[in-house]
Amino acid sequence: MVDSDGDGELEARLVEQEEFEPSREFVEQANVSDPKIYDEFEKNWPGCWEQAAALLDWDSPYDEVLDDSNPPFYEWFTGGKLNASYNCLDRHVENGDKNRVAIKWEGEHGDTRTYTYQDLSREVNEFAAALRDLGVEEDDVVTLYMPMIPELPIAMLACARIGAPHSVVFAGFSAEALATRMNSADSRFLVTCDGYYRRGDPLDHLDKANEGLDGVDHGVDAAVVVDRLGDDGFGHDLRGNQHDWDGLLDEHSGDRVDPVQRDAEDMLFLMYTSGTTGQPKGVKHTTGGYLSYAAWTSHAVLDIEKEDTYWCAADIGWITGHSYIVYGPLALGTTTVMYEGTPDYPNRSRLWELVEKYAVDIFYTAPTAIRAFMKWGTQFPERHDLSSLRLLGTVGEPINPRAWKWYYKHIGDEECPVVDTWWQTETGGMMITTLPGVGNMKPGSAGPPLPGVDAKVVDTGGEEVEAGRAGYLTVNKPWPGMLRTLYKNDERFIDEYWREYSDTDSDDPDDWVYFPEDGAKIDDDGYITILGRVDDVINVSGHRLGTMEIESAIVGVEGVAEAAVVGGKHDVKGEAVYAYVITEEGQAEDDEMRDRIVQGVEDAIGPIARPEQVLFTPELPKTRSGKIMRRLLEEIANGEELGDTTTLRNPEIVEEIQRKADAR
Ligand code: WT7
Repeated sequence: MVDSDGDGELEARLVEQEEFEPSREFVEQANVSDPKIYDEFEKNWPGCWEQAAALLDWDSPYDEVLDDSNPPFYEWFTGGKLNASYNCLDRHVENGDKNRVAIKWEGEHGDTRTYTYQDLSREVNEFAAALRDLGVEEDDVVTLYMPMIPELPIAMLACARIGAPHSVVFAGFSAEALATRMNSADSRFLVTCDGYYRRGDPLDHLDKANEGLDGVDHGVDAAVVVDRLGDDGFGHDLRGNQHDWDGLLDEHSGDRVDPVQRDAEDMLFLMYTSGTTGQPKGVKHTTGGYLSYAAWTSHAVLDIEKEDTYWCAADIGWITGHSYIVYGPLALGTTTVMYEGTPDYPNRSRLWELVEKYAVDIFYTAPTAIRAFMKWGTQFPERHDLSSLRLLGTVGEPINPRAWKWYYKHIGDEECPVVDTWWQTETGGMMITTLPGVGNMKPGSAGPPLPGVDAKVVDTGGEEVEAGRAGYLTVNKPWPGMLRTLYKNDERFIDEYWREYSDTDSDDPDDWVYFPEDGAKIDDDGYITILGRVDDVINVSGHRLGTMEIESAIVGVEGVAEAAVVGGKHDVKGEAVYAYVITEEGQAEDDEMRDRIVQGVEDAIGPIARPEQVLFTPELPKTRSGKIMRRLLEEIANGEELGDTTTLRNPEIVEEIQRKADAR
């Protein structure tokens, strides 16, 4: 790794200093700066969550903050009615902010588009009218398979306006992944685009979308296709049930659609995420609880004010983009930046150039990006004026103290608090992090649970562990942003998240404990350090992948008999995919076979899941009961000393695999 720090003395101080205080200047202007908030929320729980709901406009008030009569099917703000698109658009237009910029979009090539709240509201209304015309009714799931173009948030808000839950599928996912998700959600509508740009080249997206549509096992009523590439396009002809986005907007020019009053507990969207089985999980989020929580955490943690220019450099195809590019920031009426491209194209200064150009106040990204910036060196951020920044954030995976300090110093100039925010697709919003205007920061530790969030670190029996000891993270009280269930699969919802630590026969909410499947430790100040997943989920560049999903893609390749996949440590990506493959009798174990395996994974999931290394082996290390010992494979991937192999049925294989790994 390049050590790009010229100022040795300062560096030494940073390494020694384990705690950082937010500057007085920051605290004085912070949305939340009174430490009493922790006590207040605890004493007045669950009533404290009214503060979150109060950030929204409700068409009719809720009767109850929390209905916990049927755990773990908690309901929040019951009886309340509201519309998410109204909250993100109309109310700002009505309150004198129609000319404020809602979305600043920058294309990879430097083309830009600016939407004021008025502009955005107009397009959302027109597209909502178009969706209705195509037959979309309230509660129909609309799948959005789109890259980072403004039409994606427009389509999301249009769905929200007519009460049709959206299911956004990350554009980097494969055709097969799209089909699986549309099938699982019974989704009969798709919005997609012809293509987009990646590192200078146009990429054919519609081809993939069409292949996905061919794999949908029920009727597809309509698809809408955005023309992103214009003359660079691939000359696709639209199919019979496919419609051009611009054509539809022209047809519905000036149309208005009344926002549908949604029940607080009505579904706002579905988001598929990886779990321990091969089948992705459809996480259900609701209108009242989710939106309140996204708005509240944007206010309290990201410190967003409507005058800010705020940039979350994630992709809307993941939950981070849903909560903190679209719903949270727009609910608060701020300016949210959207960037189409990657951080290193056309050069490694690209993000800093944008921070300077738009005078970004708040910047939120992932540790994997920070580690890449660090590797590239300080000369890139140094070329740009980053003094507009007031707050920095990270999310998605543990951040090592060195990367944290680099970010704090070289991007934030030691002036900006850094919030290390732990949360998940399932939690809807941030759960564990310092409040930047209240608490000190400890690099590497996310911080205490947010006010009103009851998180603990426990042992396998559910007892709290001592400070400094490793244990399992649990969440012991519900929160408004929580997932309500897995789509049409209440049983799996209970199995995946609650069975571990709850008395599942009990009706008493105190007997129900949410298990996020992360390891953690807590210190004497109550700061929680996340140690990573304890299930078969790996985290590549902040993207969550199920080892089972990858394994089933590999065994789908001709000539493969069995496969095991683990996450190995990676400098920039955090973790990378390591595959151990047993081939069928007579199958050559050569590069051609390796390429087919890599291709098989790309086809089934997408390039993000591409194995870093494929090792052929005659057997996998298995316990006497036949379970693959992944821990040993992880140790091999990491070049670590091997742990205990005595419980194995075939201990000799471990050395053989290790020899092969060393030889590569
Ligand atoms: C998993 C959730 C939250 C949006 C992006 C990822 C890991 C997330 C942190 C953090 C350490 C983190 C956990 C979690 N994770 N944030 N600040 N420190 N680990 O959402 O794809 O649902 O993944 O990401 O392991 O369980 P996701």
